[in-house]
Amino acid sequence: MVTYYSLLTSLFLSSASPGQASIHHLFTWFLIVASLVFISVTGIVLYVCYRYRAKNQDERPVQSFGNTKVEVSLTLLTSCVVGVFLYMTITTMFDIQKPAGKQTADVVITAHQWWWQVEYPKSSAVTANEIHIPVGKRVLFKFKSADVVHDFWVPELGRKMDIIPGDTTHLWIQANKAREYTGACSEFCGAQHAWMRIHVIAEPQKQFNQWAEKNARPAEQPQKGIAAEGAKLFHRLTCGNCHSIRGTSADGTIGPDLTHLGNRKTLLTGLLQNNKANLRRWLEDPQKIKKGAHMPRFILEDKQVNKLVTYLEGLK
Ligand code: CUA
Repeated sequence: MVTYYSLLTSLFLSSASPGQASIHHLFTWFLIVASLVFISVTGIVLYVCYRYRAKNQDERPVQSFGNTKVEVSLTLLTSCVVGVFLYMTITTMFDIQKPAGKQTADVVITAHQWWWQVEYPKSSAVTANEIHIPVGKRVLFKFKSADVVHDFWVPELGRKMDIIPGDTTHLWIQANKAREYTGACSEFCGAQHAWMRIHVIAEPQKQFNQWAEKNARPAEQPQKGIAAEGAKLFHRLTCGNCHSIRGTSADGTIGPDLTHLGNRKTLLTGLLQNNKANLRRWLEDPQKIKKGAHMPRFILEDKQVNKLVTYLEGLK
């Protein structure tokens, strides 16, 4: 689970991706030069206070009216420092944010209050909240918003990107190591902004291909037992108006795609581990778990919840 501490340390300390390394490099130079400026200005102020302090009450200090040499050199020096940093900032920006042109995105993210829809145009895979990418590859992310302004930020993988209704933004992302990276929505977007976590799972290309292939397929539907009853109930309760389960008539796009829900590690954008007990708690009273979420509360009997949970957790 992501903590603010890990968000902070990952911002300053690690370089898990080329984008983050460029930002880190720029930040380090800023820190060094800004510290030097701070130390010299403070030092000079202290020195001048001491050196030119009044020695007795009647003494009048010498009045001076400018010194062209000092003024010109200070102006030139500061302009040079600012100029160098402007150059470094612009080159870093171009380095980490190359135009996407007409290239097809590898991953299309649609931000919703309060979850992430994740689509892979090249393989037709669809999922939510847990973003799989191949390790060591530059991956093109495109962002859209379904409602308000959100902001995608996985500190270890580089810069932030605003997600703006009616517009498309993009980001190149590359993970150097095969592991999980965590991030969060970093633009206040309503009641559950804090629970809009991001999980990026970088894995070897082969494993990624297998995952994508699997997640592009429609769900295998249970033929009998409690799960099959759950499937019927799911459709009877019109859950499919908001959720998609590919291969069935459920094709809603308001809530997360549930086609392979059973394969995800977490529920509700990282809020809960994905298991039967938590799914049950969620179905019993969504507002108790994630207040403000657009999932309505259905008054369900225990038996019905059982059927739904069995069906949904079996979707793999
Ligand atoms: Cu989405 Cu904050």
